[in-house]
Amino acid sequence: SIPSILRRHIQQVSQKDVPAAPLAFVLDIDGVLLHGPKVLPAAKRALALLEGDNPFRTKIPYILLTNGGGVGEEERCQKLTQQLGIKISPSQYVQAHTILKSLSHKYADEPVLVLGGKLDAVRRVAEDYGYKKAFTTTDVLAWNPSVWPFHQASPAELDVVKYTDFSQTRVSAVFVFHDPRNWALDVQVLCDVLQSNGIVGGQYVSPEQQALDPVEVIFCNPDLLWRSEFVRPRLGQGAFKEAFQAIYKALTGSTYPHVQYGKPTEATYRFAEGVLSDYVEEIAGVRRPLPQVYMVGDNPESDIAGANAANWSSILVHTGVFDPQQGPPSHRPTHEVADVEAAVRWAIDREL
Ligand code: G3P
Ligand code: MG
Repeated sequence: SIPSILRRHIQQVSQKDVPAAPLAFVLDIDGVLLHGPKVLPAAKRALALLEGDNPFRTKIPYILLTNGGGVGEEERCQKLTQQLGIKISPSQYVQAHTILKSLSHKYADEPVLVLGGKLDAVRRVAEDYGYKKAFTTTDVLAWNPSVWPFHQASPAELDVVKYTDFSQTRVSAVFVFHDPRNWALDVQVLCDVLQSNGIVGGQYVSPEQQALDPVEVIFCNPDLLWRSEFVRPRLGQGAFKEAFQAIYKALTGSTYPHVQYGKPTEATYRFAEGVLSDYVEEIAGVRRPLPQVYMVGDNPESDIAGANAANWSSILVHTGVFDPQQGPPSHRPTHEVADVEAAVRWAIDREL
């Protein structure tokens, strides 16, 4: 058999010979590949081009970058693989809250509140990321139903509740992982936590006292709107943030300082660039500088704004949030096309 040192050399030489495509893609999901649960026909054709059916006769690296979330990366990639009919690996997938993995060391043993998504799904994601004491607003309601008298926890909600005495548990941070399902309960609990600096039902504290050891608030998706399945775009997590901040301001006189992740934030684009570099390496077997990056998106405010700021090329499609009948986009893309297939074809032609 071939000695391992020689085998590694042969491997390295042959990997260097893998032809590199002169471009890479970052694809948005909702409004580009899917409408809510429905797959757009152009998506499968676009992915076939990227997988090798292109003039370079090689796989063109691509990752998916979405402001969606609510389940673990592994689980979402299995679903996408089944919907799109092409293997999507977690190493080519970034969702709104993926970036929170890198923050879990700070809050590993601290009680934190996680908002959004179905039942306790985001709690499980948070635990998986390393947040060992993650609580939901339903846990708060189960501890004391009078926290929000207008909603009674359902049997399904009670089934997954984690009991704790919130009058004795200081919440150190709140993470809005995904779109809240019960805005009213979530706004109430969020106001409770922040006004009393971490203790639901505790004494209200002044902004000066708050500033000494503030409860950190992090939102993962600033989208006011997303395309989804309905004829008009639907309110997203950004709309929840607006509602919460308006109410918090009406109560206290000022909005609450928060951190924002997700497209179009610089942090998320930098994170995505790292994931894309690793993915290019995974395909080629060697570290290579990033080729020209093309972002394909449907939302000028998030996809296009972020891509332009990151110095990527940006392609705006007409299958999503942006409606060409409403005038020019708020952020000018490098190019505008009907759908994701046309976007991929245009970028390939440009790099030929
Ligand atoms: O909730 C998801 C939505 O706000 C945006 O999804 O894939 O278009 O970034 P996407
Ligand atoms: Mg989109």
